[in-house]
Amino acid sequence: MTEVPDEVLGAARRGLKGSRRHVRDTFDARLHRWWPDLRDGLVAVYPRSDVDALAARFVRIAAKATVRRSPELHRLDLARTLQPDWFQSPSMLGYAAYAERFAGTLRGVREQAPYLRELGVTYLHLMPLLLPREGDNDGGYAIADYRSVRPDLGTVDDLRALTDDLRGQGISLVLDLVLNHVAREHPWAVAARDGDPRYRAYFHVFPDREMPDAFEQTLTEVFPDFAPGSFTWDDHLEGWVWTTFNSFQWDLNWANPDVFAEYLKIVLFLANLGVDVLRLDAIAFVWKRLGTTCQNQPEVHALTQALRALARMACPAVAFKAEAIVGPADLVHYLGQGRHHGKVSDLAYHNSLMVQTWSALAAQDAVMAAHALRTVLPVPATTAWITYVRCHDDIGWAVDDVDAAAVGLDGFAHRRFLSDYYSGTFPGSSARGLVFQENPETGDRRISGTAASLAGIEAAREQDDPVALATAVDRFLLAHALAMGWGGIPVLWSGDELALPNDPDWAHEPGHEADNRWAHRPRIDEKVARRRDDPDTVEGRVFQGLRHLAAVRSGLAQLHASVPAQVLDLADPGVLPVLRDHPVGPLLGLYNVTGTARPWPASRLWDLGFSRPFDALAGTALGVAPDGNVWLPPYAAVWAVEPT
Ligand code: GLC
Repeated sequence: MTEVPDEVLGAARRGLKGSRRHVRDTFDARLHRWWPDLRDGLVAVYPRSDVDALAARFVRIAAKATVRRSPELHRLDLARTLQPDWFQSPSMLGYAAYAERFAGTLRGVREQAPYLRELGVTYLHLMPLLLPREGDNDGGYAIADYRSVRPDLGTVDDLRALTDDLRGQGISLVLDLVLNHVAREHPWAVAARDGDPRYRAYFHVFPDREMPDAFEQTLTEVFPDFAPGSFTWDDHLEGWVWTTFNSFQWDLNWANPDVFAEYLKIVLFLANLGVDVLRLDAIAFVWKRLGTTCQNQPEVHALTQALRALARMACPAVAFKAEAIVGPADLVHYLGQGRHHGKVSDLAYHNSLMVQTWSALAAQDAVMAAHALRTVLPVPATTAWITYVRCHDDIGWAVDDVDAAAVGLDGFAHRRFLSDYYSGTFPGSSARGLVFQENPETGDRRISGTAASLAGIEAAREQDDPVALATAVDRFLLAHALAMGWGGIPVLWSGDELALPNDPDWAHEPGHEADNRWAHRPRIDEKVARRRDDPDTVEGRVFQGLRHLAAVRSGLAQLHASVPAQVLDLADPGVLPVLRDHPVGPLLGLYNVTGTARPWPASRLWDLGFSRPFDALAGTALGVAPDGNVWLPPYAAVWAVEPT
């Protein structure tokens, strides 16, 4: 065990001054527990000679924050320390929404909690609600003040009241920690523009194009359409500032320990308001290295590890979620590989599962999905995937050329097919997506659109075609069954529970006209939501279908996130078989991604140890036809278990 240096112990003591004995003892125990993680993280990023002094500075900040934590949050810290797998439980169900689009204000969100409970939601991600810059602010991802709430939504006190209230109802609150960039109106950026060298050093500023040009050789553009390039000239700075996203979002320089200290304080401020999970926004981009894409650099994981170790000392109830929309080989590192095993984020988005689901549905074939999902390395048993069908962002066709080639497909052609299919131009497609950020250089065309519009529900309703509608609803529910049956926390995107179509008026709001991601961020209309109880409506079928999936899921121990999902060999190219092998018995998920009935040989069930397979979704024994197959109707999902 690495000894905690006296300098750090002294800093902790100073930070804890005046606190009660048990607070001091608890912090001391946590400091010793997490010290090796903190130290190793800092050593990988900052000069070794500075590390003890930096650690002392950060530990003091953490100690002070723990003293300010409310008694109720201290109890939560204890409860989650005793039950560290709280977020891995099969009863977890997420919902993500813009507060104003979902319920008007933070108070409105509190009032809508029963609606969420009705669905089975235990985890609510509210999109950025801290004070952003005025005008276009990238959906709130350009923050001007991390310590105020958007006035149209409420106040910091309302936020605290919301977290209290949700906690009482068994719902955890998730907020974004936008840590790659701030708005150019944020006081740090303002001070930098005013010539303060301390704050200039918070950013990456270059006097001329030499370095920006050198970096841009290997950078990919995130918004090639409305924010080309990755640097922006600023007259006040008399320099080029790094702006990965929009020109008004200034990237921070995480090599500067002052930036680390600032964000540590923000983490602890949000934690002490009762926020349960912090979504580390655009975390892949925080470390820059010449000659690389400046994504997924090793320092990203070292920084996350150090930040998490400090959060574990001050507020262990808080979990970290990585938002890294990167290829599978890079993605698994966000949950910890090698020396960072289990020491970085607790949660990460399974982008690959989302992309492969839409890809399989378009191709009516699960072969590539099976191959690609099998290449995702196992992740630590203490972590969980966030599984999802849609989120607030566009879908980028992150289909790897190597994965495509392995199953005889051309990656470029397949990505083009997916863009054609989901924008509805491919013959026979009923999808109604919109092309987002077409990049003529790479041929990329990402797609916006709600799950209902992409699954064909919008088109079928417009054409008043009940058969097509029933098929589209099944397709929609199949995609969600796969997300709910994979393991981890499935997160529904607001409006999908009512099968809302694309918002036709998305461009009418000032600042939104160039960003069609707003098409799939519809407002919840109470009148439409009321139809959720009527099984004769699409809203009713979808809402009750999702609710059923979540309810069945919560009773299946096999869906605890510590159990890995294994994709088995395919028996039919249209059926994706996913096994979760738990000591209580296996769970075999079978997903027919096609519009025709497909077989699964019952012999495979016997090989897996089943004797009386029961379909937990249908609530009946799994029927085996005289030909020895289980026949899956079009777009059907089966969750086979042994009855207990
Ligand atoms: C994340 C968000 C996205 C935003 C970007 C910049 O990727 O999901 O909406 O544009 O970060 O903050």
